[in-house]
Order: sequence, then C-alpha cells, then structure tokens
Amino acid sequence: MIFRLDLRVAAKTPVADGVVALTLTHPDGGRLPDWTPGAHLDLILPNGVTRQYSLCGDRWDPHAYRIGVLREPDGRGGSAYVHDELAVGDTVAIGGPRNNFPLAPSERYLFVAGGIGITPLLPMIYQAELLGADWRLLYGGRTRASMAFMGELARYGSRVEVVPQDERGLLDLPAELPPDTKVYCCGPAGLLDAMERHAAGWPAGTLRTERFVAKDLGVPARAEPFEVELRRTGTTVTVTSGRSVLQAINDAGVNVLSSCRQGLCGTCETTVLAGEVDHRDALLDDAERAVGDCMFVCVSRARSDRLVLDL
Ligand code: FES
Repeated sequence: MIFRLDLRVAAKTPVADGVVALTLTHPDGGRLPDWTPGAHLDLILPNGVTRQYSLCGDRWDPHAYRIGVLREPDGRGGSAYVHDELAVGDTVAIGGPRNNFPLAPSERYLFVAGGIGITPLLPMIYQAELLGADWRLLYGGRTRASMAFMGELARYGSRVEVVPQDERGLLDLPAELPPDTKVYCCGPAGLLDAMERHAAGWPAGTLRTERFVAKDLGVPARAEPFEVELRRTGTTVTVTSGRSVLQAINDAGVNVLSSCRQGLCGTCETTVLAGEVDHRDALLDDAERAVGDCMFVCVSRARSDRLVLDL
C-alpha cells in the first residue's frame, strides 16, 4: 500500500559538499510506515515539485526517515529548493515508501556506488552486515569531500573501497566475481551503463541497478499508432506517436497515479493482460521484461497492434 503523509523536517545536515541529509518525522511523533532497503520516497515539496529520494537511514527506526539530497545545478528545481529554502520545522508531503530495488537474499554482495548513488545502498549494507553476509562496497565520487556518509562507512574498514576520481581515477570493476555474488549498483548513468556492459558475461540476475536519471532509449519500437484496451473499464483508446499511454488513459477519464513520468519511480505500474510491450522504463530487468505481465505506462509503449490492460 502506498501512503501519503505530511511530515516535519526534523533535521537538515550537510553530509558532503553539495549534499544535505534530511530527517523527516511524523508531526505528532508517531510511527512511520515500514520500509525495506532500496526503498524510496516521493518528496512533494511546498513549491509543488515532486522528486524521488532513496531512504538511507535506519530501517529499524520506526520514527524517522532519512534521505540524502544532492544539489543538482542542472536539475528541475527540487534539489535547489531543498538546499536553499527548506528549513527545519517545515512540512513536506511524502508518497510511498515504494521499493523498486529490493535486496534479494544472498550470502555474498558487491555494492557499487557512484556519488549520491550511495543512498539506497547504505541500508542494504546495514542489512548485509546484520545478516552476517560477505559484502564489499566500491564507492566512487568526484572528490573525497563530495562523497556523502564517509564517516558512517569508516567503521566497516577494508570492506569499503573509496575511490575519489581526482585521487585514483574511475572505479575498477571486477572482471570476475566469487560464485553466487549479487551486485547492486546505483549512481550516474555513465557508471550504470559501464556496469551493464561489464555484467554482460555474468550469470543472469547477478546485477541490479537503480537509476536516478532515465536511460536514453532512442526511438520507440513502432511509430504507428496502437490500441490500448482498458478491460475493466470497457474502453479502448488509441495511442499515437508523441503521446504516452498514460496520457491516453488519463484523457479517457481513467485515473492512473503517476509521479516521475520518466520510468524511474514505479508509481504508474499497470498489469498487462495481453499484447507485447515495448519496455522503456529503468526499473525492470530482462527476466521481468520477458514475463511481460506489467508495464510503466508513463514511458513504455506497444510492440503489438493492441495491448490489454487491467484497468
Ligand atoms: S510515473 Fe514514475 S515510473 Fe511511471
């Protein structure tokens, strides 16, 4: 179930150059909805902007959420508002938590973080440590001063390899992995693309990634219009090029919740009953795409003439 809550900014703390951590609590001190490592929130700011941020605090603390926010000079106003305007005591609305990047059980993990991509991995690391798993973190960033949460990671000693680019260059990704290792990677698009190329020879399902910025997917699989049948509503809509499935559905008066509209947050996930999907999100892996039973209607389209959705 997805919650929508008004929370109070209980703390705002610089944790690296250009990164602040926000602690959010219930205004009456009550418990917050549970979450699992890899989960994110929709942060709905007082200026009307909604952004997704990974939860990076203690998942066993039911009274506080923590997120890390990087100031993005070329961003769309969300991070600048958090850095420049949002103050302790302010109220922000949140949606979620939602987890598109869950930690699968394993005895061995390799975590790979680039910059602010450390945020979803922090709770995974705590969990792996708690469960006694064998884990390692490769953490890259522009400079040491720009890399958040270094103090918290120091306690893990040699399990953590810190690679500031100005001191040591780019992360050195391992050519081979110990058997049954699961790899979780989050960071800028360049790192994720390199990681996906690097993982081509690893067993299927080894690598899981989370993107903060949509992939460049090129042109859709088909340029021609296609039909989308909304089975429960009993309506069929036509989706032409230049319009998303989400727009066509909403224009037909059927409400599908959305947030990022970039295939990143998972809010618009819709069950597919029939038809072949042109998956254009950054959420599903190849195996999940092959099953073909869900799609993110903000970005994904059809390969076939017709899709049937459970709406
Ligand atoms: S609205 Fe975020 S994935 Fe579709």
